[in-house]
Amino acid sequence: MVQPIQKILVTGGAGYIGSTTCVALLEAGFSIVVVDNFSNSSRTPLDRVLEIAPGSLVTYEVDVRDTQGLGEVFAVESVDAVVHFAGLKAVGESVANPLNYYDVNVGGAVALLQVMQEHDVRNLVFSSSATVYGDPEVSPIVESAPLVGTNPYGRTKLIIENMLRDLAAADPSWSIACLRYFNPVGAHPSGRIGEDPLGVPNNLMPFIMQVAVGRRKDLVVFGGDYPTPDGSCIRDYIHVMDLALGHLAAIRALGDISGCEEINLGTGTGSSVFEVHEAAQRAVGETIPMRVGGRRPGDAASCFADTSRAMRLLDWRATRTLDDMCADAWRWQSQNPTGYQ
Ligand code: NAD
Ligand code: UD1
Repeated sequence: MVQPIQKILVTGGAGYIGSTTCVALLEAGFSIVVVDNFSNSSRTPLDRVLEIAPGSLVTYEVDVRDTQGLGEVFAVESVDAVVHFAGLKAVGESVANPLNYYDVNVGGAVALLQVMQEHDVRNLVFSSSATVYGDPEVSPIVESAPLVGTNPYGRTKLIIENMLRDLAAADPSWSIACLRYFNPVGAHPSGRIGEDPLGVPNNLMPFIMQVAVGRRKDLVVFGGDYPTPDGSCIRDYIHVMDLALGHLAAIRALGDISGCEEINLGTGTGSSVFEVHEAAQRAVGETIPMRVGGRRPGDAASCFADTSRAMRLLDWRATRTLDDMCADAWRWQSQNPTGYQ
């Protein structure tokens, strides 16, 4: 008989999506073991996770590339499944320092999978990204669309995905949900945990919120001449709480997955940069300075998910609106103007 999943190891659990997912998993009654090296986070989010959702959560400061350290965690904690968030995610940084990205993302995944195999743990939920679709020819994007890595970060995700497919083909006792996130934004509705980028944010929502809170002068819209209805790029923004619940659904579905399943996590609806700016102004209740600048190299005009596979395999769909995303992002940003510092 297949053992029910009770204890989950969450790598990168102190990060933006990891901490929010910890809340969802604790609220659902799971025990959690977090492994994080705090290279892009601190213990504070985990303290706040336990404030929001008191439960069983232990933390180990271990690098996922450290097979010995990971092995010790697996030896002490009998975990039933792993959610693997730990990794580096900034596209520009990956172009400037590719080896570090291959080392942490690919090396970390190899080390983790080896230790999981040694300890007979074959249930995995992996954080992939819609970046694996590159510049998609058509949206909504289905999981069978062509895959292409357009920068080192994207290529690390593609390499890991291929590795997971090879592993599952060699040993179908693995159950792997490879979740391709679209654009995660927003924060836990308590305003206690959220996204805390170091330096100048690369992504749209944290940038807008930092303008709103007075940390930056104005939002520069990267291109107003795209072949879209209002000329700005279209993306599928998904509330991080919906994303967290998607992970919960994936954990629950692992028992029905034999091998590796790729699943889009998005809302299925695209919003333009101008629409996000307007929604942010509604949430903040003030004008947010904005101007239109040149295109950012590498940006696709339009990218949003076909979500039918997530609905079918996970019985999950996103329910939160763009206004919810902006309201929660603003609550987090206004209550924590300098993030966790
Ligand atoms: P994040 O940086 O907030 O969280 C990542 C966590 O992993 C951090 O706590 C960091 O300290 C930890 N970490 C990094 N390297 C580590 C290592 N070698 N050993 C142990 N811990 C390590 O990022 P996030 O936004 O929460 O993203 C989580 C995952 O989701 C990443 O794999 C990312 O590529 C993927 N993803 C994110 C987005 C997004 O927009 N945020 C989109 C698609 C996919
Ligand atoms: C980016 C990454 C992608 C990664 C994702 C989530 C690139 C090319 N892609 O996706 O690999 O998975 O983040 O981390 O970097 N925008 C502005 N002004 C800004 C910031 C953004 O107009 O100051 C626009 C962008 O042009 C884009 C949209 O807002 O059209 C969303 O940008 P962003 O949040 O960076 O996400 P992606 O580009 O979709």
